[in-house]
Amino acid sequence: MMRFSVLWIVAVKGVLSAANNKSVPQAFASSADGLYKLTSVDAPVKGRNSGTPGLNFECAFSVDDTPSGYRQTVRGFGATVTDGTVELFNELSDPTRSALLDELLAESGAKFNMMRHTIAASEMSPEPAYTYDDANGTVDTSFKHFNISERGRNMALLLAEMTAKEPELTIVGSSWSPPAWMKENGGLRENLYMGNNVLNQSYATQFAQYFVRYIHAYGGRNAKVNAFTIQNQPLYTSAGVPSMSISADESAKLIQEDIGPTLHDAGLQTEIWAYDGNTDTPQYPQTVLDGASKYVKAVAWQCHAVADNNWTALTDFHDKNSDIDQYMTNCWTSSTDKWSQAADFTIGPLLNWGKGVMAWALGTDDQNGPHLDGQGVCETCHGLVVVDVESDTYELQVDYYMMAQFSKFIPKDSIVLSSNDETCDEACGLQKSLEAVVTLSPDGSRVAVIVNKLANDTHVTLHTKGNQTWSGLVYGASVVTWVLPAVGA
Ligand SMILES: *[C@@H]1O[C@H](CO)[C@@H](O)[C@H](O)[C@H]1NC(C)=O
Ligand SMILES: *[C@@H]1O[C@H](CO)[C@@H](O)[C@H](O)[C@H]1NC(C)=O
Ligand SMILES: *[C@@H]1O[C@H](CO)[C@@H](O)[C@H](O)[C@H]1NC(C)=O
Ligand SMILES: *[C@@H]1O[C@H](CO)[C@@H](O)[C@H](O)[C@H]1NC(C)=O
Ligand SMILES: *[C@@H]1O[C@H](CO)[C@@H](O)[C@H](O)[C@H]1NC(C)=O
Ligand SMILES: *[C@@H]1O[C@H](CO)[C@@H](O)[C@H](O)[C@H]1NC(C)=O
Ligand SMILES: *[C@@H]1O[C@H](CO)[C@@H](O)[C@H](O)[C@H]1NC(C)=O
Repeated sequence: MMRFSVLWIVAVKGVLSAANNKSVPQAFASSADGLYKLTSVDAPVKGRNSGTPGLNFECAFSVDDTPSGYRQTVRGFGATVTDGTVELFNELSDPTRSALLDELLAESGAKFNMMRHTIAASEMSPEPAYTYDDANGTVDTSFKHFNISERGRNMALLLAEMTAKEPELTIVGSSWSPPAWMKENGGLRENLYMGNNVLNQSYATQFAQYFVRYIHAYGGRNAKVNAFTIQNQPLYTSAGVPSMSISADESAKLIQEDIGPTLHDAGLQTEIWAYDGNTDTPQYPQTVLDGASKYVKAVAWQCHAVADNNWTALTDFHDKNSDIDQYMTNCWTSSTDKWSQAADFTIGPLLNWGKGVMAWALGTDDQNGPHLDGQGVCETCHGLVVVDVESDTYELQVDYYMMAQFSKFIPKDSIVLSSNDETCDEACGLQKSLEAVVTLSPDGSRVAVIVNKLANDTHVTLHTKGNQTWSGLVYGASVVTWVLPAVGA
């Protein structure tokens, strides 16, 4: 028995060091059919190998891996921790929960390092909806009733536990609705008879203080909030979901006159990210930036208006605002969607100056819940991981693997490189059936993530500006990640 386990340890160590050997090229794949799940596959070879004539498609990309090709740095990848996520994770046994957190955050797992979370209730909260200062229906301008409550406490503790596993974790908060007493309609959701799902401007000061109190409450529990958006989807309100309308002008004014100064006076460095909405209204974040540039660090975009994975709105925005960071903060995953959903919403923003990508819910149960009862709740959206509390198990969804093809191999502070599709659109006959993003890791190695939505295996060649050629097979309906040695290694 003893001898057996020693041999086993030696064998595993051998595999691990080979997998970490950055002086040899490596490849890993996840496929739509589940045959590959971050599986080590044939590495690309230097030069142009022959492929399988007549059987494979062929195409080529080029990348500028010299300083002239350096674009944005990467901050990270992950998903949104909802109240539902927290509740489900906390109902797992300790060993199962710990194994799950490793699959999400550890070196051996997806290495997610960026988590958004809901500031109080979202549609993915069990009933009832709540905020951190419900004040029993009274107006509470001095925050006598402020309390993140048990659900906020559990969320902060989970984020703190994630931080213990991944010390570089970036935490991003987003509010769905402030306390009802700050709003003209007096409720968290839209009241169809009253409209007016807006902030009462008499409470702009309190709205700002609410964020400072939340950041302090989380920080006190070792969940350091790095950034936040003041309103999820400020142009969308619903009778079923906690929500609030904030116009672009109002957002600029609130940040410039109240939220920015209040944060500053509290000594907080927490970044304010503007907007948190769809790419079809780029004038919204532009207005916020123009009115509050002193306080806005980044723009947060969501995916709901993106067609054909066209994220060029971010490149257009970059061209006008080159010093502003951009992130993709919210996109759903669903069993009724195409297998490439998560790969698409990750590669699209990366190719258009996005520094980070977060899927919507991190965890759900097998009924796509728990969620609020009202309309406007996505009834078919599942988390990256689906938890079964009854059997104390969880299942990593295809979307988890597709995001991990990026997050596991592209470390924080990698540089996205300028790349071009030389022949892939042409060869495949379909636009964007094959896309690739190439990054330069801090240790000098290069990572190419190739998304192949064709059913056919495809022979892919990558030409670098440093005059290297790499080529290899990218399986049909899969994402393949190549890890290429540093130039000169
Ligand atoms: C990495 O691979 C190269 C080439 O195969 C080999 O020479 C070197 O010893 C390996 N390094 C480690 C740490 O395994
Ligand atoms: C695609 O694959 C099918 C078999 O799966 C093959 O018959 C066909 O020739 C391939 N197409 C090309 C252009 O390679
Ligand atoms: C909440 O308000 C109701 C009446 O509106 C009152 O009866 C109750 O005592 C209040 N609860 C607390 C904890 O203040
Ligand atoms: C905050 O709420 C929790 C439970 O929701 C309660 O146990 C705690 O006493 C409250 N704290 C204060 C200061 O009221
Ligand atoms: C906004 O708050 C002020 C101050 O409490 C109040 O007088 C006013 O009625 C409120 N406006 C609305 C529309 O609720
Ligand atoms: C992509 O979207 C932009 C608007 O953001 C539009 O101007 C452009 O024509 C679109 N490109 C394609 C190829 O559809
Ligand atoms: C790559 O090849 C081109 C053409 O032969 C040459 O001009 C260029 O200097 C080479 N670049 C490097 C980095 O070797």
